[in-house]
Parts: sequence; C-alpha cells; structure tokens
Amino acid sequence: MSYPYQIKSFEAYQEAYQKSIQDPEAFWSAIAEHFTWKKKWDKVLEWNFTEPKVEWFKGGKLNITENCLDRHLATKGNHPAIIWEPNAPDENHRILTYKKLHEKVCQFAHVLKNNGVKKGDRVCIYMGMIPELAIAVLACARIGAIHSVVFGGFSAQSIADRLEDAKAEFIVTCDGAYRGAKDIPLKSVIDDALIGNKTVKRVIVATRTRTPVSMIKGRDVWWEDEMKQVEEKGITFIEAEVMDAEDPLFILYTSGSTGKPKGVVHSVAGYMIYTNYTFVNVFQYEPGQVHFCTADIGWITGHSYIVYGPLSAGATSLLFEGVPTWPDAGRFWDIVDKYKVNILYTAPTAIRSLMGFGLGPLQGKNLSSLKVLGTVGEPINEEAWHWYDEHVGKRKCPIVDTWWQTETGGCLISNLAGITPAKPGWATLPMPGLQMVLVDENGKEILQEGEATISGNLCIKAPWPSILRTTYGDHERCRTNYFATYENMYFTGDGALKNKDGFFRITGRVDDVLNVSGHRIGTAEVENAINMHAGVVESAVVGYPHDIKGQGIYAYVIYQGSHAQDTHGTGDLVRKDILQTVTRIIGAIAKPDKIQFVSGLPKTRSGKIMRRILRKIAEGETENLGDTSTLLDPGIVDEIKNGRL
Ligand code: PRX
Repeated sequence: MSYPYQIKSFEAYQEAYQKSIQDPEAFWSAIAEHFTWKKKWDKVLEWNFTEPKVEWFKGGKLNITENCLDRHLATKGNHPAIIWEPNAPDENHRILTYKKLHEKVCQFAHVLKNNGVKKGDRVCIYMGMIPELAIAVLACARIGAIHSVVFGGFSAQSIADRLEDAKAEFIVTCDGAYRGAKDIPLKSVIDDALIGNKTVKRVIVATRTRTPVSMIKGRDVWWEDEMKQVEEKGITFIEAEVMDAEDPLFILYTSGSTGKPKGVVHSVAGYMIYTNYTFVNVFQYEPGQVHFCTADIGWITGHSYIVYGPLSAGATSLLFEGVPTWPDAGRFWDIVDKYKVNILYTAPTAIRSLMGFGLGPLQGKNLSSLKVLGTVGEPINEEAWHWYDEHVGKRKCPIVDTWWQTETGGCLISNLAGITPAKPGWATLPMPGLQMVLVDENGKEILQEGEATISGNLCIKAPWPSILRTTYGDHERCRTNYFATYENMYFTGDGALKNKDGFFRITGRVDDVLNVSGHRIGTAEVENAINMHAGVVESAVVGYPHDIKGQGIYAYVIYQGSHAQDTHGTGDLVRKDILQTVTRIIGAIAKPDKIQFVSGLPKTRSGKIMRRILRKIAEGETENLGDTSTLLDPGIVDEIKNGRL
C-alpha cells in the first residue's frame, strides 16, 4: 500500500465511510497522525453551524510547508516536485526537485521577510503559471502570511476590490504572462489597480515576458534582485513559522449570487489533511507517478491539486503555462507523451473544445502512460465523457468526476479511480466524512422511497476538515450565504439527483450563479458591470446552455444612450462597448456571449425581475413560459421573444 490511508477496494471504501460517520474524530485523527506536527492537537473537532464555528485539530501546531517539502527531503530530495512546461513548446522546460523547491521557497520566504511581510499579513499574488507562482504561494505559507491568489484574467478593478477587501499590503506579480498567442501585461494591470490604493507597500515583480514595465521607486522591486541578495549570502533555509491548526492559510475570492466576490478563508491543518487525503484516494496516486492538473493556480483546483494536495503527498505535479489549443489542439497530448503523464485532471469545457478539433491532434501521440482521468468544475455531458474515455483513456483509464467548490477545499463527491464504480455524468458517491442530503425548498430532507431517484437542493449535515472557516472580514456574510438558508446545514447552492445506489448527479446551480467554462460568475456581478456603461439603464443576466462552455452568458439590456443604433443600425458597436466595460470591471471571462436590447424587462408589480421567463427565452423555449399574468406589462414578453438572438 502506497499510503497507509489509501482505500484499495469498494469494501474498504464502505468501511471507511461507515467509520467516518460513526466517529469522525477517531477517523480523521487517525489520518492526521500521518503528518508532521510540531505539537499534537488538544481537540479533534468542535463545531456548530449556527455561528458558524468549525475547528479541527485545535491547539495543534504545524507548518504546511514542512509537510509539503521538508518531510520529503530525506527520501525524495532528488525527485521532481514540479515539472514546468512553458507556453511555447520550443522553450526549455524546468524541473524543480523537492530539494530545489524547498531551497527556493526558503529563499523567497526570506525575500518576503526582508520586504516587511509578517505572519498574518495578506499577500496578493497575481502571476502567470510559472514555478515562481507556486514558490510565492509556499513561501507565504512558510512564514505564516496569508496568500490571496488572483487569477491572471481578472481586471485591475477586480484586483483593486480584492486588495481593499483583504487589506493587502504586499503584491507578488510578473512583468507579464504568456497564455497561448497572448502576452498579458500583468504588472501594468497591477499599476492600474493601485491607482488610489493606500495600503500596498511593496510590489515584487518576477521577470517572464520582458514586457516594459514602470517600476516605482520605493514601492516596486524585482524578484530576481531580491533573490540574488539572499542567494549571495548563501542562505538556503528558513525556519518554518509555527502555525496553529486553525490559523488561516489563504483567502480565495469567489462569486456568489449577490454583491461582490467574497474571500473564502481556509485554515492550515484541515485543508492540508483533506486535500492530501482526497488527492491520494480519488486519483489513487502511486509514488513516482506524474500528475497533470490543467487548472490555473488562480482557482481552487490549482491550489488543492497542483500545489498542496500533490506536494503534501510527495508527488510530481506538472504545471503548464499555456492553453490546450495553442499552438495547436494537440498540446495536452504532446505534454502527456513528453512527460509520460499518469493522471490527467481537466475541465469538461477543455474536453468539449478539444473534441471540436476531431481526432487528428491525437494521432501519433503516445498516451499509453495514462492511468487515471479526471474532470472538475461543471457537469460533464455523456458525449464528452465517452470521447474522453475512448480517445484519451483508450477505455483503460477510470474517469473520476469530482464535484466540489472553492468553499469545500477538496473533492466531496467523486468516484475513487478504479476502486468505486463510475457512471457517466454522475459524480457518484460522497467521500468518507461527508453526510450529503437533498432537501426541499423548506429545508426538509427528501428521503428515498424504494428505487426512485430523488431530486433536491444539495446540503451537508456536518463539517469535514477543509470546509471554509469564514469569509474574510465578514463572518456574517459567511453565515447568511452558506448556513442560514437551511437550519444546521451547509448549503452548496447546487441542485442534485440521488439514485437508488446512493450516487449523486449534480444538476447545476439553483442560485443566481453561472458556471461558464467551469468558472463561477454571479449574474448580479455581470449586471453591475454592464450597468456601469453610461448608456445602460438596466440589465438582466441569465445563463443558457452553451456547447463548449457548458453555460453561456445572455444579457438583456435596456439602453438609452445616443449610440443605441450605430451606423449599421445593428447596435453592434454598443455591444462592443458593453463588452469592453465588462472586461474592464471584471475581466474577459465575464463577457456576455449574447446581448439583446429590450425596451423593458418582465417584472412583477413589486418590481422583481422574473428571471425564470428570461432564462427560458434564452434557452430557446418560447412556449410554456408559465404564468405571466402577474407581470406589470405582460406585453414585454412577446417583444423579448421576438427579438431573441
Ligand atoms: O456548480 C458546481 C460546479 O462548480 C461549482 C463550484 O465552482 P468553484 O467554486 O469555482 O469550484 C470549481 C472547482 C472545484 C459547484 O457549485 N461543479 C464543480 N464540480 C462539478 C460541478 N458541477 C458538476 N459536476 C462537477 N464535477
């Protein structure tokens, strides 16, 4: 057995599950014993979902980087920890062994300290997918600073909001980032984000693209210069900060149904144990294997299954800077072939987009090293599942469909590769420790009768180690968002089915959150951005099924600006202006796919927009719109139907 707590049979899964529910404290503390602690915990678990308060391993002292790095040095010092594949295939790749990564993390931890970063300080990290991103993340953890990684696609305004919310005093960034044919000027975006900012004291800039950047005296320093100072002193080590199990490890911002994105906070020990446990069990990782998670470290998937899960397990994690379709749609397959990748973990959107290129890009690529395939972030349609199974896995690789969220830290519902059964489109069974329930809109648990499949809102009855602890700076928001909809339960925001075998199928968000290409975007957030455009009076945003992205963004806009009809009379120019506004306010990922100009929106007499109707029209359903008699102006529905794009 590779890891003492690795589940190797269906019976062992059932047994582990039973134990975890009967005595969660005994179950999780037995697993926690396998990690490096400076001091063991006083109490395994204390919780209530009313405040909410969740504390795992309280009183335990540790540092996550000792678990991800130091403890592997004796046996795996010369093994690759990170294999880095650059954006362009003709650029040299880099391999960081555990020894090298440990050294770089320690050195950059000194750099952070030299620049004034202390335990508990918030460090915003805005970088492309280069090894320095993982180094920066781990160096923060080494000294107990709280990292807040912001995905490189977010706009200056989004960064400014996040900096302010986290009261971050430090930023680590790059001059620029490569993503496919694009060269993104990250430092320049940071400069824009910092206009008017009064809290940021230091910006550390790593060199990647050599894009010209303005370095402001007294504020901006180069990564390379700072590292050189440490290296020249011969420093290769820094003592790891002693952290309490419940100290915060990081903040990661994510969208909800209302207001601005919230800073989900994860704490050190529970997150470490759970990401490690799920990495080892879901993917059935065996020492020596190469794990390739294609997500960006800017999202939770990258945090948990590129950095912390794999490294805490002493695994080899492949970090890819580029995109699946550049320079051609064979990029993933070349990487699998080149590094003999064993585990490939990606999003259904990527699979669907690659399917669109046919089988040509797969030809001549040796994929025989693959053992396990995984998907994450959105429901996978059966066609994509079968294509992945047949053409990538050659029907020999189990596919794990992993359901989870930024707030959950790690996978909560998933089959275990080759150990528990898979079912296309179904995330299947909960991980040990997870008490999933389906409830109706009143919070009443829906019970299974006979063999019938049931459907409801997905909730969780008790905490697992990596549940979010709070939303940064606003605990009440955490309570109302997740713990107030249904009493004594964590509400996921997703709807789900449960079949006679206890398998779950996630049907999608039941709140006003969209899932576009596996990325979460709140409809309210997009509406706010659209409404910032000078000529926009009001807007309503809904999702609609999109062949590649899973969901597309459909915006209905009331426009009264003087440019409503441009020279071609199509409104195209205005549409572009609106897209530009959304890009500025949030980032290109939130751009609507369709913008329909309307003269009014279907509202009830109390002024509430009937999104149900708008959703149906966007989906192409023009009959059966339900009861429209309560609308203030039922006539508007016909206009909207007729103008549908
Ligand atoms: O709706 C679910 C969907 O993605 C949401 C979480 O998004 P985020 O916090 O960005 O995390 C994505 C990566 C973990 C969920 O509420 N989702 C995630 N995984 C799946 C999924 N929907 C269906 N099947 C999945 N495997």
